Amino acid sequence: MSDALHIVILAAGQGKRMNSALPKVLHPLGGKPLLHHVLDTAIQLNPQSISVVYGHGGDKVKQSCANYDVDWIFQDKQRGTGHAVGLALQDRDVSGHILVMYGDVPLLPSALLAGLVKTSSDIGVLTAIVSDPLGYGRIVRNEETIVGIVEQRDASPSECEINEINTGILCADSRLLKELLDQVDSNNDQGEIYLTDIIALAHQSGIKVSGITTENEMIVSGVNNKSQLSDMERYYQKQSARLLMDQGVTIQDPNRIDIRGTLTCGRDVIIDVNCIFEGDVVLGDDVRVGASCMIKGSRVGAGCEIKPYSVIEEAKVASGAVIGPFARLRPGSHLADGVHIGNFVEIKNSNIAQASKVNHLSYIGDSDVGQGVNIGAGTITCNYDGANKHRTTIEDDVFIGSGNELVAPITIGKGSTTGAGSTLNKNVEADHLAVTRSPVKTVKGWKRPRKEK
Ligand code: UD1
Ligand code: CA
Repeated sequence: MSDALHIVILAAGQGKRMNSALPKVLHPLGGKPLLHHVLDTAIQLNPQSISVVYGHGGDKVKQSCANYDVDWIFQDKQRGTGHAVGLALQDRDVSGHILVMYGDVPLLPSALLAGLVKTSSDIGVLTAIVSDPLGYGRIVRNEETIVGIVEQRDASPSECEINEINTGILCADSRLLKELLDQVDSNNDQGEIYLTDIIALAHQSGIKVSGITTENEMIVSGVNNKSQLSDMERYYQKQSARLLMDQGVTIQDPNRIDIRGTLTCGRDVIIDVNCIFEGDVVLGDDVRVGASCMIKGSRVGAGCEIKPYSVIEEAKVASGAVIGPFARLRPGSHLADGVHIGNFVEIKNSNIAQASKVNHLSYIGDSDVGQGVNIGAGTITCNYDGANKHRTTIEDDVFIGSGNELVAPITIGKGSTTGAGSTLNKNVEADHLAVTRSPVKTVKGWKRPRKEK
């Protein structure tokens, strides 16, 4: 027996019941297309080749998998699972074993599949004991021996009562599989070529069909509609939360967290409810994330506190920073140790050095802010002239008064102060006070307009 493993993933189904323009296998689970979950699992088995049988919406499917090394097999019309596997094998002289997976069954653990491959010297099937077998192919056994698989629509009333189902995942010696598939006809209720028919054919030829059985319904489940997708999403999220909790992360409610990517946490991280993590997010030791935060593709250093309702995207935050509530860090925000970003503050493409504070209602874009700077409430860096973006430099120990407009390009020199309400469009030298303010005019006894009665 050759050790080579080849994997065939069936993904030609339209997924009509998803009611969507997006091909079924591209719908995301935990932020990643279903098919990518299957491919990632397949890769863990170190196969010699991976073939994907695709059909409608094929170009989108192919494009989305551009980073995967797979052979694409086009099936123009769905003539059944046996036909699909046959297409993948035709004109190929593969030796070794073929493992058949489904593009819409995303949560199978690779260890279970490895176990199936190991037991399948001739043919092996992955079966599951389920509470409601309706719709699935049933495993027909004689004593312990698997003698066939009968589809729901072809099953007799007594076969319908069998609660051991065919997950669809199967592994077989490649030559044997080809031989058996050649004998399968489409003489069934759907007029399709059923892959499952090879089981009875094998049994009749005295070939042993082995089986591996699981009782975890979720990991063998496929996605057919949006409500199954949401059930699976919750299951997946709870699993992800459990893994983090096992590592010591405090998750206030594992039913209310969404990880759409990879979340890596240090020790004693605390995550409050309704947070969403996207892409690769790293949280250092002792980070606290308040309720309803969204953090995407960012690193947050040790001891930081992210207060509720903050949105952080493609940002780097060093240790001990305090952010929010209601703060927004946009791509390219790099905050040094101990920076404070308060409510209704937006930072974009800016470096903010150690211990500087932007605490209220401000926009800091395309800026380099030094250490120990205090930026008063309602300050705006005017970085865009309608055509080009310009940088603002605020050197160490500057104090920017409230309500300033800093018209870039501009440099505010070290240690200088700007007066409240200033609009500055010229550089300010170090240790100066800059203030632009029209003098106060007072009119004695001035009457406010009144509504006529
Ligand atoms: C199939 C099995 C059934 C099993 C069930 C598990 C057969 C005949 N039946 O039934 O025993 O319990 O899966 O979910 O195999 N596909 C193609 N090309 C085709 C037909 C299907 O690529 O011509 C793909 C689909 O996209 C899907 C998978 O194969 O990913 C299964 O097809 P589907 O029609 O969902 O099979 P079931 O009728 O559910
Ligand atoms: Ca079908």
